[in-house]
Amino acid sequence: MSERILLLALRGRDAPVLEQLLGRSGYDCHRCSSGDALADEMAAGAGAALVTEESLAETDRHGLARWLERQPAWSDFPFILLATKRSGRRPQSALHRLEQLGNVVVLERPIHGETLTSAVASALRGRRRQYEAERQLNALAAAEESLRQLNATLETRIGQRTVELARANDQLMQEIAERERAQAALVQSQKMEAVGQLTGGIAHDFNNLLTVIGGNLELIQRRATDERISRLSDFALQASDRAAKLTRQLLAFSRTQRLTLTPVDINGLIQGMTDLLARAIGPTYEIAIRLDPRDLWAMADANQVELAILNLAINGRDAMPDGGGLTIASGCEAASSQSGLRPGDYVVVKVSDTGTGIPKALLDRVFDPFFTTKPMGKGTGLGLSQVYGIAQQSGGTVRIDSVEGRGTTVEIWLPVARALEASVAVAPVAAGRRKGPLERVLVVEDDAGVRRFIVECLEMLGYGVTEASHGREGLERLAEARPDLLIVDFAMPGLNGVEVINAARAQAPDLPIILATGYADMEAVHKVIDPERVLRKPFQIDDLERAVRTAIGEGARGTVGAD
Ligand SMILES: Nc1ncnc2c1ncn2[C@@H]1O[C@H](COP(=O)(O)OP(=O)(O)OP(=O)(O)O)[C@@H](O)[C@H]1O
Ligand SMILES: [Mg+2]
Repeated sequence: MSERILLLALRGRDAPVLEQLLGRSGYDCHRCSSGDALADEMAAGAGAALVTEESLAETDRHGLARWLERQPAWSDFPFILLATKRSGRRPQSALHRLEQLGNVVVLERPIHGETLTSAVASALRGRRRQYEAERQLNALAAAEESLRQLNATLETRIGQRTVELARANDQLMQEIAERERAQAALVQSQKMEAVGQLTGGIAHDFNNLLTVIGGNLELIQRRATDERISRLSDFALQASDRAAKLTRQLLAFSRTQRLTLTPVDINGLIQGMTDLLARAIGPTYEIAIRLDPRDLWAMADANQVELAILNLAINGRDAMPDGGGLTIASGCEAASSQSGLRPGDYVVVKVSDTGTGIPKALLDRVFDPFFTTKPMGKGTGLGLSQVYGIAQQSGGTVRIDSVEGRGTTVEIWLPVARALEASVAVAPVAAGRRKGPLERVLVVEDDAGVRRFIVECLEMLGYGVTEASHGREGLERLAEARPDLLIVDFAMPGLNGVEVINAARAQAPDLPIILATGYADMEAVHKVIDPERVLRKPFQIDDLERAVRTAIGEGARGTVGAD
């Protein structure tokens, strides 16, 4: 902002005198040679003008008047007029000239230097306030302009913001839904885990009881000469077989049962079941088999998969009391990253029916053990639990899709067997020949009933038997006299079966061993014993006999290289 003092003093030495005087007080002065020159300098920027009255009278004032009229709203340019000495009043024309200037201070001559500088200072102060007003007006105008622009774009910005908010809200809702889904899945899997543990424990106790009940019934049957007793024990045996089947399903669900995971040709397995399915389902139902044309090998337990398909087919039949269609299909699918499965390819067996479907509210419960909607005696609620258990334990999963009134599809996903695994043939175990009556078996079993049954059977089969009721005692008996075979239970107080096997191997590395169990930490078991040397409880006399013969036969082959 310019603070120049413009001088219009055309007569004599007025201009240099004034310039010198003001220059001493530090003012920046500029002399003008006419009214127009003064107007040009005012336009260029100045703080005030010092004008002698006679110069104003003599010069052309048009340019000056025009500039003063057009000066901006904030500006009221200050003049200091040095009056011409005169005796009377100012004539009208002189007054008119003063009026034209507007913001003017008139100083009479002769004039004291201090009066002049103080008048100039006050004119400049006034001019500064005008500059300040200009600054504020400009700021106000700028603020108004930006407000105007803001208003003009407000609608668009509100629109954009709304879209952004809606997008954020959508994302939030998706995340909430995803979290709820994950939480529900977690709760479901924790529930299944807890129920699985409980069921596994119960099944273990039942296995021991059923081994004793079934085994002794068989012994009675073999010894009975009375036809009636033989028939009665047969009924009882059938019931104990059914109970054993239930226990097997419980174990499959609790995932503590040992699965024999080998490469299974799923298409072949389904084809091999067609007769069985037709018989189980009955002639009123149409069974469509749709097999994938490719070879599908899954890592699974063939017997358990058969049982699972049979369970699903029976469920399908039960859901179609008035007849309908059952479809069993096979295929191969890749697991997505959200599926909770290990990434890779899975063989999928789909069993679909056109039956009643399952109400949405019940879908979460159908895999629970003992959940059934069937009348007493019709369903135990263990079918889908078995399917769930074996799928999980094989490293796969089960999916169910059901629409009320339309039907249900259950999918069993099983991991694909790698080519190498599939090419390894599973050699059947040849039953060995019994060596002779002198062979001795050491039986280590804590459950007195089961132990007595095993001993009884072995004696009946012509073996010599040594018994031990716990692991430590078993190892002592082993140290006293080496038997031809060791049969050991898995779940025992003190040393468990695996620990007994490890200690026995240290004493007698070639000793044939059979582990009898229905419930075990299978990973630990597999580390110490061949799966073929595991005898599943409850077992029948035939199973025991076969296992003992094979083990002793192989042991003899291993030691003498014969047979
Ligand atoms: N295909 C299906 N269509 C309609 N409902 C079904 C189907 N499969 C299962 N369900 C429902 O799920 C329940 C549980 O099935 P699950 O196979 O576990 O037991 P269950 O068939 O009742 O008895 P179990 O199989 O032990 O004899 C059934 O009672 C039935 O309500
Ligand atoms: Mg069922």
